[in-house]
Amino acid sequence: MATVPLASAVLRRLEGKVALITGGASGIGEATARLFHQNGAKVVIADIQDDKGHSVCQELHKSSASYVHCDVTKEKDIETAVNTAVSTYGKLDIMLNNAGISGANKTNILENTLSEFQQVINVNLVGIFLGTKHAARVMIPARRGSIINTASISGNIGGATNHAYTSSKHAVVGLTRNTAVELGPFGIRVNCVSPYIVLTPMAKKYLEVDDDGILGVYSNLKGTNLMPNDVAEANLYLGSDESKYVSGHNLVVDGGFTVVNNGFCVFGQSV
Ligand SMILES: NC(=O)c1ccc[n+]([C@@H]2O[C@H](COP(=O)([O-])OP(=O)(O)OC[C@H]3O[C@@H](n4cnc5c(N)ncnc54)[C@H](O)[C@@H]3O)[C@@H](O)[C@H]2O)c1
Repeated sequence: MATVPLASAVLRRLEGKVALITGGASGIGEATARLFHQNGAKVVIADIQDDKGHSVCQELHKSSASYVHCDVTKEKDIETAVNTAVSTYGKLDIMLNNAGISGANKTNILENTLSEFQQVINVNLVGIFLGTKHAARVMIPARRGSIINTASISGNIGGATNHAYTSSKHAVVGLTRNTAVELGPFGIRVNCVSPYIVLTPMAKKYLEVDDDGILGVYSNLKGTNLMPNDVAEANLYLGSDESKYVSGHNLVVDGGFTVVNNGFCVFGQSV
């Protein structure tokens, strides 16, 4: 009997699946689009950066990657993006609600304007609500699907980012849990991934850095840095059938950062 080479078996974990990725033109979303595609998925990238989105799709195969302009704060755009996935590839198996913004790096609440706060909530939370709603619209009749939301360590602890971003990401964790409960009976899993700092365009702008120096300063796990592809691997697990009984879960990818309380730590600095 012919044996399947291990490498090709490992690389096709999403064979036959269709994935829609918001914010897929850059950073974590782009890395996930590439990894999903490499693993056999047909991929639809939904973003507002049209040139970047088209160029990522062009690098992937034409017949298995498409771009759709989609502002996640607009319900019509999300509805169209989901319908595009279904009309182009026949179904929707994986919805990655990943588009996000950081908002301004202002931690003083007295300096925060209402409009800045609302803008972050609109993209990071309302966008995920709309993405989940329209994915569920087509997944419920199919009785299957995996919805993955990009949260953050700021969805688990306070003090890491501004109020709007922290609030939005805590809410994403709550929305993930609530929708996992509602959609479970339809065979749909809903999970979120909470990354530590990844030096994408968003993080570089927020932190005003252009190299990886800052990562080592705050991280708990030393000797390596969190890269977009590491978060994409977590998304791949949650999108694949290997996680078939995982739902309502918050997969924290932070090298242990959020379990350390530096104010009361019995372990000395050993490195
Ligand atoms: N980079 C980090 O340190 C980090 C850590 C934790 C969580 N996250 C989260 O990861 C997700 C991806 O961010 P990233 O770091 O890859 O940043 P990024 O800026 O590289 O990518 C974000 C993408 O979202 C798109 N986007 C923004 N507003 C949009 C809208 N209204 N509609 C559609 N698309 C929109 C952008 O055009 C961009 O392509 C975000 O939800 C972010 O909050 C990032």
